[in-house]
Amino acid sequence: MTQAEITVRSATLDDASAIAALTKEYAGEGIMLERPLENIIENIRNFFVAEYGGEVIGCCAIAFYTPTLAEIRSLAVLSRWKLKGTGRQLVEKAESILRDEGVPEVFVLTLSRQFFLRLGYSEVEKEYFPQKIWRDCTHCPKLMACDEIAMMKTLVPSTTNSSLQ
Ligand SMILES: CC(C)(COP(=O)(O)OP(=O)(O)OC[C@H]1O[C@@H](n2cnc3c(N)ncnc32)[C@H](O)[C@@H]1OP(=O)(O)O)[C@@H](O)C(=O)NCCC(=O)NCCS
Repeated sequence: MTQAEITVRSATLDDASAIAALTKEYAGEGIMLERPLENIIENIRNFFVAEYGGEVIGCCAIAFYTPTLAEIRSLAVLSRWKLKGTGRQLVEKAESILRDEGVPEVFVLTLSRQFFLRLGYSEVEKEYFPQKIWRDCTHCPKLMACDEIAMMKTLVPSTTNSSLQ
């Protein structure tokens, strides 16, 4: 099992159940917000999946906030696939799409500080993203006891247009 054999691609409606199961597993551990199936289907064009041998082993999504700001969210890799480069591939795919869209700033709300540090993200105050707080946080059960940190990265435009595959 090597990183080269893992494929990251845009999600299709057939992937929706697998994505829901992934987010449910980690939501049960309090690590991320569960995404209901109907919400995933509604937003399927913003999801990516990592696949190995026909099995969905990871997922992530992009949420657009302003023409210059987006969030990477719903990032999850199956437990037995962790630390094999899948999370990195998913994030890099999302970043590549954002570069092509001309979106220069990306943020995450996460408990996985070390992982995002490795990928070049820096910790910032959550209040830096009022758009996020207005849109999602006010509905979150952890609102008054949020343990996630905000991290962001400025995307340098690429010179090649390699992500639109
Ligand atoms: C966070 C998560 C997506 C990482 O996926 P992954 O496939 O295991 O990560 P990768 O193998 O691509 O790791 C990339 C780098 O981060 C490092 N890393 C990953 N998880 C780490 C951790 N928990 N602590 C320290 N370093 C970590 C890896 O060692 C690797 O370092 P390298 O650049 O030296 O090779 C995965 O652990 C996960 O699904 N966690 C639960 C859900 C979650 O927290 N999602 C984030 C919500 S925003």
